[in-house]
Amino acid sequence: MGDPAYGEYLSSECVTCHQADGSDKGIPSITGWPVEDFVRAMHAYKQKLRPHPVMQMMAGRLSDEEIAALAAYFNGVR
Ligand code: HEC
Repeated sequence: MGDPAYGEYLSSECVTCHQADGSDKGIPSITGWPVEDFVRAMHAYKQKLRPHPVMQMMAGRLSDEEIAALAAYFNGVR
């Protein structure tokens, strides 16, 4: 399980694009996702199975532990 406090710390660069209140303005909402779905999506970008260059770069820089922490944090944001 990831550490939500660490995830909150890491989330500052994510919420420059993804709105922290979960609203969707062209960029998908990533709050309140089941942890497994979030982790799977991030690994899909990291492994370039999902084609978005910005998210590939973001996910590519994150360790498994950091992805788990972000998943735990955003899961709790409603
Ligand atoms: C520069 C803007 C930007 C930043 C910064 C950014 N994202 Fe994204 N993110 C996007 C866009 C645009 C998409 C939609 C990409 C696509 O169509 O595949 C996306 C997609 C996602 C998705 C999949 C959403 C879905 O509905 O399938 C997740 C999960 C995600 N981002 C998490 C993060 C996390 C975690 C961070 C911080 C480490 C982050 N993003 C930083 C722009 C950004």
